[in-house]
Amino acid sequence: MTSTKFLPADYTQNLSSTSFSYASPSNIALIKYWGKQGIQIPKNPSISFTLDTCRTTTTLHFEKRDNYKEDFEVKVILDGKHKPGFEAKIHQFFSRILQYMPFVKEYKFIVETTNSFPHSSGIASSASGFSAIALCLMEMEREMQPGLTDTYFTQKASFIARLGSGSGCRSLEGPLVVWGEHSEIEGSSDIYGVSYPYEVHENFKDFQDAILLVDQGEKQVSSTVGHNLMHNHPYAESRFNQAHENLAKLIPILKNGDLDSFIHIVESEALTLHAMMLTSSPYFILMKPNTLKIIEEIWEYRRETGIPLCFTLDAGANVHVLFPKNYKNEVQDFIKSSLSEYCQNNRYIFDSVGTGAIKL
Ligand code: PMV
Repeated sequence: MTSTKFLPADYTQNLSSTSFSYASPSNIALIKYWGKQGIQIPKNPSISFTLDTCRTTTTLHFEKRDNYKEDFEVKVILDGKHKPGFEAKIHQFFSRILQYMPFVKEYKFIVETTNSFPHSSGIASSASGFSAIALCLMEMEREMQPGLTDTYFTQKASFIARLGSGSGCRSLEGPLVVWGEHSEIEGSSDIYGVSYPYEVHENFKDFQDAILLVDQGEKQVSSTVGHNLMHNHPYAESRFNQAHENLAKLIPILKNGDLDSFIHIVESEALTLHAMMLTSSPYFILMKPNTLKIIEEIWEYRRETGIPLCFTLDAGANVHVLFPKNYKNEVQDFIKSSLSEYCQNNRYIFDSVGTGAIKL
């Protein structure tokens, strides 16, 4: 897959707008991306549910610079407060995308952003954040180069988001997005996410995700470090192969609605992700005692009630509880009465699968 198709043609129009705004969702992977090469080229394919209420809303303001040199000019405002700490990250992102969007050097930017989920909730905002910025930048490009097709617009936006945050390339469309080449998924690519192209059973429509906030602090090991520890990892190759196999197995499951098999794959993927961390060198643990307590409670509840709920984990201690919409009342009651006590300050978020980013 070549990136050259995303090099810009000559821009024919001047920009008349001064800002664009997008609300981009977070996403939760079913088959996990863990391990990369270069700038966010995944070592294995992944698939995620796009979320609905967990979103980053960003307005990108821009103004032509009079004279510019090599550097970029960006100010980041988070929840109304200037955050110089985030600006280095945007500078790095701009230098990565410069060859695909050379105009980023010609403008000064203000990135005004808010997250719908609470601060330091342990929910990563980089995926939704870079998705929103990438979409705003693509709106600029579309205005300067009218006639871009919608497919090109979305693919390039995902490609650009990926250069900021790998999993961010899965945060544009919904409800299911694949990223990473897979022999059985037509159109899948290592350099951008694509909407899952095959049939999905009613059971998975409007799937629910309750996010249990077990640990809202800063992670001790960033996902960048974690991904890098997959280089020379003793189990890396078999893990990458397993992800290919699990995604292949998921295709008929998504079609026939087999919830037991779905649960088996999703929970195994979550535990394997953390097993990779436990067996890295240096090794590390991101789960907390309450992560395990919640998992045990979920298993017991499933055994007792037969309700097909399951868990998955990100690179952190929080637990995502996934379940079909028709069990919403029972499972939400169970979470409030039995699982919330394991959450920091009893905090959890009820979200569901969504349809993607929204232009504001
Ligand atoms: O996009 P990153 O570098 O934050 O990595 C995300 C990795 C996981 O959340 C653990 C898995 C995934 O596929 O989202």
